[in-house]
Amino acid sequence: MALLFFLILAFCTGPALLESSARVRLVRGPHRCEGRVEVERNGQWGTVCDDGWDMNDVDVVCRELGCGAALKTPSGNLYKPLAEEDQKVLIQWVNCSGMENELTECEQVEDVFDCTHKEDAGAMCEKSPPRVRLVGGRHHCEGRVEVERNGQWGTVCNNGWDKKGAHVVCRELGCGAAVGTPSGNLYKPLAEDQKVLIQWVNCNGMENELTECEQVEDGFDCPHKEDAGVMCVLPETVRLFGGPGRCKGRVEVKHQGQWGTVCKAGWNLSAAKVVCRQLGCGKAILTKRCCNRDTQGKNFIWLSEVSCSGEEESLQDCPSALWGENNCTHADDMWVECEDPFDLRLVEGDTLCSGRLEVLHKGEWGSVCDDGWGKKEEQVVCKQLGCGKSTFLSSKARKKFVPGVGRIWLDDVRCSGKEQSLEHCQHRFWGHHNCNHKEDVAVNCSEQSSGLLHVSPDPLRP
Ligand SMILES: *[C@@H]1O[C@H](CO)[C@@H](O)[C@H](O)[C@H]1NC(C)=O
Ligand SMILES: *[C@@H]1O[C@H](CO)[C@@H](O)[C@H](O)[C@H]1NC(C)=O
Ligand SMILES: *[C@@H]1O[C@H](CO)[C@@H](O)[C@H](O)[C@H]1NC(C)=O
Ligand SMILES: *[C@@H]1O[C@H](CO)[C@@H](O)[C@H](O)[C@H]1NC(C)=O
Repeated sequence: MALLFFLILAFCTGPALLESSARVRLVRGPHRCEGRVEVERNGQWGTVCDDGWDMNDVDVVCRELGCGAALKTPSGNLYKPLAEEDQKVLIQWVNCSGMENELTECEQVEDVFDCTHKEDAGAMCEKSPPRVRLVGGRHHCEGRVEVERNGQWGTVCNNGWDKKGAHVVCRELGCGAAVGTPSGNLYKPLAEDQKVLIQWVNCNGMENELTECEQVEDGFDCPHKEDAGVMCVLPETVRLFGGPGRCKGRVEVKHQGQWGTVCKAGWNLSAAKVVCRQLGCGKAILTKRCCNRDTQGKNFIWLSEVSCSGEEESLQDCPSALWGENNCTHADDMWVECEDPFDLRLVEGDTLCSGRLEVLHKGEWGSVCDDGWGKKEEQVVCKQLGCGKSTFLSSKARKKFVPGVGRIWLDDVRCSGKEQSLEHCQHRFWGHHNCNHKEDVAVNCSEQSSGLLHVSPDPLRP
């Protein structure tokens, strides 16, 4: 319904509504705050000649874009692909004092002589903290989408919201791939007092930040019922290696693309607790010095003097000695064991109450084979997720969810229908099956309003 309002509105007010208010942007850089400088004149984006281009000018651009401090005045030609031939050089010369709030306030010459694209100006500013966050989920890579505007956080209407937008948010937050776009309304507490700051958004999926997507900030009232949500994979920056399953093993962290171990100095059960939470495993059970000559690490010893209170979101948030700077040996490598949680979720659907069924075992999500699967089994899943009763799933919708990837954890599942958790139904031994992913179970439940997050045990908040 809201989408219809939007379309009518867009039709009445014309395309100007869709344009962003920014008059300057940095393109082709690794993020919004670095790249070739482009300015907008009468709806056309063009470049800036680097004659007289200096740090004062970059200061102003960084300020105008809400980025951090100015770092450099790189050539705009470092950012590929290059400016298109038919794009104009709109500013030939500019001289800012460095105190201006916008580039348009600086002394500038727009047209006098010809500067070529070889002389395009670039700017490098400190990356600003993300102006998007995910709220109410199990970790910082899942939840209701909220954006920041002028110091206020508000929500995003799900008009036009899809997997591409989700990918952009996941990328901006440094999370892994997007696995779903559930309703933001499933994440409690609800966003009742907040404004809906973005009414409509359309990303192509390649943007580094949500602000780069085409969007409408105002125009009509989208209710919080239509808040957008995102589920991304947690990025792998820590692992428990060489143990049975994903939730027991030698602690390893990733730094500069390389895995390395952590040292005993400063390490305690609070640090183990952080690791278990970060991995989506259960409670921390024990931590000890690990390993003999054969099982200890061989490469880097990244972390030492780690000091966690236990409440940190990730090990990387705990103070420590500088990465790689320590006198530890691999005899001091640490081992952690976490509880092995069971959980389930429905992925790839538009809500948390429909999609491909995945179960968590030994800290790893995997699918369920449909051999022997029926109505009773489905009822147990919907009930366990707080999603009401199981209901019809069209074969077209099923195709959207199936096949899955990764492990196939369960096969020949048989429930009486009275079980509180799928875990209590009969099934083959974990991981034993004669299936392929085409046979993955997908489920549709009747209620879309109460979510998994409040019913099933939450392995990430032990
Ligand atoms: C640039 O502007 C400053 C004042 O902000 C002025 O002192 C300086 O002479 C100008 N430079 C040129 C080349 O005009
Ligand atoms: C672990 O050490 C940190 C300080 O480094 C301390 O704050 C925390 O309470 C300790 N935890 C345990 C379980 O001893
Ligand atoms: C490593 O040991 C050397 C020699 O004992 C010492 O000078 C240095 O400060 C130590 N480095 C660290 C990071 O502890
Ligand atoms: C799930 O069931 C509801 C009715 O309970 C239906 O409206 C909806 O289209 C179904 N979803 C899919 C993906 O089939």
